[in-house]
Amino acid sequence: MEQPTPLVIDTDPGIDDAVAILLALASPEVDLRLVTTVHGNVDLEQTTENALRVLHLAGRSDVPVAAGARGPLVHPLAERAGHVHGAAGLGGVELPPSPASLDPRPAVVALAELLTSSAQPVTVVAIGPLTNIALLLAVFPEAAERIGRLVVMGGSAGAGGNVTAAAEFNAWADPEAAQAVFSSTVPTVLVGLDVTLPTVLGADGVERFAAAGPLGETAGAILRQYMDHARRTYGTAGVVVHDALAVTEAVVPGTLGTVPRDVVVDTGLGVTRGQTLVDRRQPSGSATAVQVAERVDSAAAVELLVSRLESFAAARG
Ligand code: RIB
Ligand code: CA
Repeated sequence: MEQPTPLVIDTDPGIDDAVAILLALASPEVDLRLVTTVHGNVDLEQTTENALRVLHLAGRSDVPVAAGARGPLVHPLAERAGHVHGAAGLGGVELPPSPASLDPRPAVVALAELLTSSAQPVTVVAIGPLTNIALLLAVFPEAAERIGRLVVMGGSAGAGGNVTAAAEFNAWADPEAAQAVFSSTVPTVLVGLDVTLPTVLGADGVERFAAAGPLGETAGAILRQYMDHARRTYGTAGVVVHDALAVTEAVVPGTLGTVPRDVVVDTGLGVTRGQTLVDRRQPSGSATAVQVAERVDSAAAVELLVSRLESFAAARG
């Protein structure tokens, strides 16, 4: 087997972030070298504590965690997503504290140093607001150019929004940062609502890994609030683990069908703030084109997630 691909996850845990981190740890194709945290679903202190605790839950408190931006680049956020993820961000589940200390470096420094020192191209998966990635581009452009692939969970091409009618949460939480990222030349894959919303993890899938061992049982408990929220809000019997689909694309490149598109973000202060405007008139040949995910085999993606979490939980006993 080839050398696993070095992986960094930039994240705002968050229930689906927690599942995405577990999926990365359960996937031999990648080697999680660093987790950087960002404000988002809950505040930075909480997303950072949650990242430490999820890694400890999985027996991987060796993975360094570096804290990043505590707010958006320009305009403060009107609200977060505690009503979706729980006030502490993990569906009301209190995980044991990690023995690991936080990496003392700011996230962008830790990320720049890893990118600069890695002999192999690094895949970065950004599953929260893009503030840290935009700061990396601004402060360490040479390091940013060394990113092999940037896989972003965010935005939507034609599926509307989830935090407003127009905007997906990660893009909405820092539109200026998203604009900076989508207008860069970093090879970027955009995993938006168009492919995440159809990819629903059902109760049967949750029960499979929940029954595989204590780690799976805890992951199932974390997801329970998400399931309840989805049932109450959308009347659905399953959950959309948006971030896990982005990690799936990072772990198995080509999982999603993508088309190069020009993407701009509404950075105004009106009702469509944070909307990602994807030019679908024709594929783009521009150096700043974003590979926008437009096709997904949702059943296959869900099966990969469930089977890997099931095996990972069983192996940890
Ligand atoms: O819109 C979904 C995204 O917003 C996910 O990353 C979820 O964790 C929230 O951050
Ligand atoms: Ca997230």
